[in-house]
Amino acid sequence: MAVFSRTASASLLFLFLLFGFSAAKELLVGGKIDAWKVPSSETDSLNQWAEKSRFKVDDHLVWKYDGGKDSVLQVNKEDYANCNSSNPIEQYNDGNTKVKPDRPGPFYFISGAKGHCEQGQKLIVVVMSPKKRSIGVSPAPSPAELEEGPAVAPTSSAPVLRTGLVTVLGLLAIYVGFLI
Ligand SMILES: *[C@@H]1O[C@H](CO)[C@@H](O)[C@H](O)[C@H]1NC(C)=O
Repeated sequence: MAVFSRTASASLLFLFLLFGFSAAKELLVGGKIDAWKVPSSETDSLNQWAEKSRFKVDDHLVWKYDGGKDSVLQVNKEDYANCNSSNPIEQYNDGNTKVKPDRPGPFYFISGAKGHCEQGQKLIVVVMSPKKRSIGVSPAPSPAELEEGPAVAPTSSAPVLRTGLVTVLGLLAIYVGFLI
């Protein structure tokens, strides 16, 4: 039995590392509906939210706002700094904007509503390189540690989804464990 649980633990760890961190997520910009607005204070700013969040290639960023009054412009770094909305890379005003960053690195967004960018309605999202995706994750525990109970800290902003995924992977790992 000990051999079995060791194998299962190792399989679980392997599968978790393989799939667990690469699951695409939808991230609501600002963490709540109607967060795409002029921030009321520095601590309420969108970039404060962005610094606390982790973004991966293939995650979807989602903006929810009143499309009649506001828009989302993806711009280059210079236009971000100057709040220049005259030549956006992309622009969206559908009120339910989804953007899928397709490469690692910084993405710059400003509001298209007049004067809003100047008042702080702007956002930098830094998408992590897939090779660096384990940053912030503690080193893999040894099989002995795992047998005492896996302590896999949820790092996702969608814990329910992540828990479900872990459960599925766990069952899969046990199944694979039987085969090995
Ligand atoms: C905004 O960008 C355009 C195109 O790059 C440029 O012609 C214009 O001068 C810029 N406006 C400001 C206010 O910087």
